[in-house]
Amino acid sequence: MKKIREIKAGTMNVDEFIADKIRDIQLAVGDGLAINALSGGVDSSVVTALGHRALGDRLKTFFIDNGLMRQGEPARVAADFRKLGIRVEVLDASKAFLTALKGIADPEEKREAITQTFYKKIFGRLVVKSGAKHLLQGTILTDVDETVAGIKRQHNVFAQLGIDPQKAFGYQILEPLIELRKEGVRKVGQGLGLPESMFARIPFPGPGLAARVIGEATPARIALVRRATAILEAALKDVPAFQYLAILHEDRVTGMRNRKRVFGNQIEIRCWDSLDARTARPTRLPYDTLEAVAKKITRTIPEVVSVTYNITSKPTSTIEAV
Ligand code: XMP
Repeated sequence: MKKIREIKAGTMNVDEFIADKIRDIQLAVGDGLAINALSGGVDSSVVTALGHRALGDRLKTFFIDNGLMRQGEPARVAADFRKLGIRVEVLDASKAFLTALKGIADPEEKREAITQTFYKKIFGRLVVKSGAKHLLQGTILTDVDETVAGIKRQHNVFAQLGIDPQKAFGYQILEPLIELRKEGVRKVGQGLGLPESMFARIPFPGPGLAARVIGEATPARIALVRRATAILEAALKDVPAFQYLAILHEDRVTGMRNRKRVFGNQIEIRCWDSLDARTARPTRLPYDTLEAVAKKITRTIPEVVSVTYNITSKPTSTIEAV
């Protein structure tokens, strides 16, 4: 497998990069159709805008609602892109993903279930129906590094693991951002004229909230972490951190409500300072902020009795919990 040459954010020529990638995409797709899945994250947003510059309406963009998104995310993302003149079709596939996750607690098995459901079941069918021969995807170098190093299987990495997407799924995958890290992707987003709210957004992982539920990601547990996420994101929206997230633990702890003992859930909060997600340090959030978040979470979500803050760096921690 050929080693990928990194393009550093500090030295890259953004306009040249955009022009090169547009040409590459046009050459690969010819006069055919391509398809891509937009999650609303920085990488997939940038790849969607780049692909539309290259192919116009010949790129069909779908938002696959896997039931693992944050509150109101599918409609918000589609509306944001509509404003840019890019049509996004929202497909509700939540049943298929939640069924595939049933009974699975192991992190890598969870990722595999999501990968297979996405690429084979949902996307495989869409590609066949659309007649597209190419899938445009926002894989970045950090995804490849961590997967190849065996730290974490990122859901969108294949070739570097010896998997031929053409054989496995029946279509080619184009990855125009694969030489970049997050900082470089943000620069390309800016260069493409995307609104800052799109390219400066905090990262959100491909496996969605399933990466933030330790143990089985049941609909009820996903709903719980979704509520905690909404509270945390609202509370930290002005904090200039790389990323912040709420995690639902598998273990429960003794707590009390109405002077009675309850055996309740624990939420862990993480907030990271990082440049490229390869290493990260916990943000030194003010105690008042942390206490206010804990209060809001335990007041709003009756099942949660305890909230903790992660004070470990990556490594040894990783950014997500699963
Ligand atoms: P980790 O947890 O590996 O995350 O330190 C590094 C960055 O990648 C984002 N991200 C993912 N993380 N699985 C993950 O665990 C994925 O499929 C994935 N996709 C993106 C993550 O949010 C963090 O910014």
